Amino acid sequence: MLLLRETTFILLTTLIVVVNSKAPYEGLEKFSEKYVFPELEYGYTDLEPYIDEATLRVHHGGHHKGYMKKINAKLEEWREEASDGLSSASLVDIITSIDDVPIKYQKAVEDFGGGFLNHALYFAVMSPNEANETRLPTDALLGDINDSFGSFQQFKDQFTAEALKLFGSGYVWLNQELSSGGRFLLSITTTANQESPLSDGLQPILTLDVWEHAYYLKHQLRRPKHVEDWWKVVDWTQVKKLSDWWQQPSKHEEL
Ligand SMILES: *[C@@H]1O[C@H](CO)[C@@H](O)[C@H](O)[C@H]1NC(C)=O
Ligand SMILES: *[C@@H]1O[C@H](CO)[C@@H](O)[C@H](O)[C@H]1NC(C)=O
Ligand SMILES: [Fe+2]
Repeated sequence: MLLLRETTFILLTTLIVVVNSKAPYEGLEKFSEKYVFPELEYGYTDLEPYIDEATLRVHHGGHHKGYMKKINAKLEEWREEASDGLSSASLVDIITSIDDVPIKYQKAVEDFGGGFLNHALYFAVMSPNEANETRLPTDALLGDINDSFGSFQQFKDQFTAEALKLFGSGYVWLNQELSSGGRFLLSITTTANQESPLSDGLQPILTLDVWEHAYYLKHQLRRPKHVEDWWKVVDWTQVKKLSDWWQQPSKHEEL
């Protein structure tokens, strides 16, 4: 009896860990009639003091959830009109082929679908940093960064400069493209509003949201402070995980 109870406990614990370890973007590569709202892998207070609870709460539970509801409604509307073809592809594939979305739906799909996907990626690559550590990528990823930008510091400086330069609302991205020998060519790009690098044939592996809603409660107009704080919570293990995820062959069958 005791053994049974212990076994059940272990099974349940394992299940909870497995459920929690799902990254917010997982599932977006598959067709879904209704996309579900991804939980975060950390709590709303856990990114303090770099990202404050009030901001994270409204950003995830308000903005991100709002985009999910809107894209689900918009996809339903589009699919009622045309049930096959691109409308029945995954959200990742739809955003990748945004130019092929009927004009009538294109802007809404880009805004809401991009908003849902971009936020999933943004939240996925951060994690708590209670010890105030300086974190660096390792191994192959660091090698690719060295090759593409000269050094990690040069990469960081260039990314930061783009974040400060970006006018209005948008995102800064680190993207990968497969190059020879299984290595990646990396690039930094920015997008306006909720546009995605996927639409430009790039695979985003790290992103910074520079919309004012991402920092205004804490920093008001001081975007440089937001960028400086954000670097502290970037989690390079998660970046690597996202980089690997794009390489799963199953994800590209429909392309
Ligand atoms: C983290 O450490 C740096 C110096 O290494 C310091 O300037 C900063 O105030 C620290 N931040 C927190 C939140 O402890
Ligand atoms: C990346 O460059 C730094 C010097 O900027 C060097 O110390 C490090 O070993 C390099 N790492 C890789 C994996 O190339
Ligand atoms: Fe945002």
